[in-house]
Amino acid sequence: MAGTLPCLIFAATLMLASIKSSTASRMAKPRCQETCGNLTIPYPFGIGEGCFREGFDVSCENNSIYRHNSSSRIKIYNISLLGGQARVTTLIASKCFNETGGWAWLNTGKFFTISTKANKLTAVGCNTLAFLGGFNEHRVGAGCFSMCADRRSVDESGQCSGMGCCQTSIAPNLNFSNITFDDRFDNSEVSGFNPCSYAFVAEQDWFRFEASYLEDNKFKEKFKDGVPTLLDWVAGNEYCDEAVKNMSTYACISKNSQCITSPNATGYLCTCNNGFAGNPYLEEGCQGR
Ligand SMILES: *[C@@H]1O[C@H](CO)[C@@H](O)[C@H](O)[C@H]1NC(C)=O
Ligand SMILES: *[C@@H]1O[C@H](CO)[C@@H](O)[C@H](O)[C@H]1NC(C)=O
Ligand SMILES: *[C@@H]1O[C@H](CO)[C@@H](O)[C@H](O)[C@H]1NC(C)=O
Ligand SMILES: *[C@@H]1O[C@H](CO)[C@@H](O)[C@H](O)[C@H]1NC(C)=O
Ligand SMILES: *[C@@H]1O[C@H](CO)[C@@H](O)[C@H](O)[C@H]1NC(C)=O
Ligand SMILES: *[C@@H]1O[C@H](CO)[C@@H](O)[C@H](O)[C@H]1NC(C)=O
Ligand SMILES: *[C@@H]1O[C@H](CO)[C@@H](O)[C@H](O)[C@H]1NC(C)=O
Ligand SMILES: *[C@@H]1O[C@H](CO)[C@@H](O)[C@H](O)[C@H]1NC(C)=O
Ligand SMILES: *[C@@H]1O[C@H](CO)[C@@H](O)[C@H](O)[C@H]1NC(C)=O
Repeated sequence: MAGTLPCLIFAATLMLASIKSSTASRMAKPRCQETCGNLTIPYPFGIGEGCFREGFDVSCENNSIYRHNSSSRIKIYNISLLGGQARVTTLIASKCFNETGGWAWLNTGKFFTISTKANKLTAVGCNTLAFLGGFNEHRVGAGCFSMCADRRSVDESGQCSGMGCCQTSIAPNLNFSNITFDDRFDNSEVSGFNPCSYAFVAEQDWFRFEASYLEDNKFKEKFKDGVPTLLDWVAGNEYCDEAVKNMSTYACISKNSQCITSPNATGYLCTCNNGFAGNPYLEEGCQGR
């Protein structure tokens, strides 16, 4: 008995080593660029003809990945292949006391939607009413109002509480949104300590309000590359039983993969069967352990 134990441990170690090497299989299609900067680009995402599934084309510019290309203004910095999510940066809408208008739009396009669970519409400013208008199957909207007549009525505790900052939920399944300000409110009365207002859609867990964000143009300068937003994506908008019927478009092509309904968006995703690992969207993607 005493002699078999080390032997078992040795066998288990060998097994672990083999799992490691088999999961290190390719994530991109053969002959396609697999990394950009220090990020891996897993198929269905890809760069260039024949390297991506329709709707998942990206570009690599200055070591950053962009959806379509940088003119989309959507920079992707994290892709979850099995979770059907992508972290991107999106732009901030801003308006200073000496300006009118100020808006920022986000067009996520086909197969991508703004995660309603992870993100909030956030506005920063005193005397600011911000709106988000968007489309899912309907025309929808949301808004929030923040008021602080003087510096002392700004929340100093880091909470986004309506005193210099406000937040509200956004509708599910948005693939287009436009953030705007209500022109009946502006920063002219508070410009001494808060010349500008800002609004954006970002991950709630990421944002922490700081009273200093109200000063000068500090907020916009700090986040000039944008703010982090979580998007949900699906391989197709159908349910699995529909999707498998058309083999020319069905995405789960690996032998050992299966279709699952997305828990967070309308459509389906692919996953490797139990005991297999890799990229379910590639022919030889899911490999045994
Ligand atoms: C690489 O990863 C680190 C964090 O892990 C990040 O700070 C950095 O910006 C990434 N990108 C590049 C191009 O190095
Ligand atoms: C890439 O870098 C060049 C030179 O620094 C700059 O002109 C260009 O705007 C950058 N492109 C993007 C998409 O950041
Ligand atoms: C970026 O994509 C848009 C449309 O998606 C296209 O009109 C434009 O020509 C592309 N720009 C470059 C530099 O490829
Ligand atoms: C990407 O997201 C995963 C899961 O949330 C996280 O563990 C990882 O640190 C993220 N990577 C970067 C570079 O943000
Ligand atoms: C769905 O959303 C939750 C919360 O944002 C996330 O933890 C999960 O990874 C997402 N995807 C799946 C496939 O569960
Ligand atoms: C308005 O004021 C802000 C903050 O003082 C300043 O950064 C910006 O350049 C001004 N804009 C115009 C159009 O004067
Ligand atoms: C956004 O979603 C709606 C409803 O699902 C769809 O009709 C529309 O084509 C989508 N827009 C884009 C740009 O993909
Ligand atoms: C966003 O809303 C503003 C203000 O209503 C409007 O002027 C602008 O055209 C809208 N942008 C888009 C891309 O729809
Ligand atoms: C399968 O999808 C393709 C591409 O959308 C379409 O042209 C074709 O008609 C579909 N076939 C069936 C049997 O639905």
